[in-house]
Amino acid sequence: MIEIRDIRKRLGDKEVLKGISLTINEGETVAILGRSGMGKSVLLKHIVGLMKPDSGQVIVDGVDITRVKRKKLFEIRRLFGFVFQNSALFDSFTVWKNVALPLIEAGYDIETIDMRVKKVLSMVNLEGTEDLYPAELSGGMMKRVGIARALVGDPKYLLYDEPTAGLDPVIADRINDQILYLKEYLKKTAVVVTHDLRSALKISDKIALLTDGVIVTFIRKEEIFQVEHPEMRQFLKASGLS
Ligand SMILES: Nc1ncnc2c1ncn2[C@@H]1O[C@H](COP(=O)(O)OP(=O)(O)O)[C@@H](O)[C@H]1O
Ligand SMILES: [Mg+2]
Repeated sequence: MIEIRDIRKRLGDKEVLKGISLTINEGETVAILGRSGMGKSVLLKHIVGLMKPDSGQVIVDGVDITRVKRKKLFEIRRLFGFVFQNSALFDSFTVWKNVALPLIEAGYDIETIDMRVKKVLSMVNLEGTEDLYPAELSGGMMKRVGIARALVGDPKYLLYDEPTAGLDPVIADRINDQILYLKEYLKKTAVVVTHDLRSALKISDKIALLTDGVIVTFIRKEEIFQVEHPEMRQFLKASGLS
């Protein structure tokens, strides 16, 4: 379980997070919805301890990661697979090496690594692409390599930062199907940051709407049409849902 308790974060002269509280239970997929620049990526970084709040707590499986030593933090980080907004692949590495990297760094033996890499590549339907370079991949394939890399250490929690941003609608929908498949098949707990309400509705159990540094509504997705907050009404309208 991930419990975010009243976190605040100032960056430069702006208070980006103004007291965020959010609980993510085991097995749940929570979408964090918000317009661009609202602090979604900043919030995600707090969950893995890549950023530290000015105040408040982030409790992962009972441990407050804002107070632990580096060694413990690295241990806890292994519970997470992070899918970065821009895929963050290394151009000079093959698909195999890009995916293998977390396990190489953790010092696993080559046979175990190769087995895991092949397994996660097949989970994202990228069998046989081991020797390709990122430049040889389409945008959708790059995203899936990013997902494979997040999965390779068999993390308990998956965090996706804008997994469908910048993809055409058909490919974006395929990535959503992929995320949904991993949710149903691997039963992982996930947090998906997105500015796309249709994606959020498709892949998540719950939706948190982040705006101006606070979560203004946190609901089960079935309750979406009952939300009266003007920001959510705007999202619904812009997505053609109301
Ligand atoms: N490292 C940083 N230093 C200063 N400001 C930052 C930093 N990271 C993000 N910000 C600012 O915080 C706000 C939220 O950013 P971000 O979380 O990336 O938004 P989102 O992911 O919702 O589009 C933005 O105004 C951004 O400029
Ligand atoms: Mg972002």
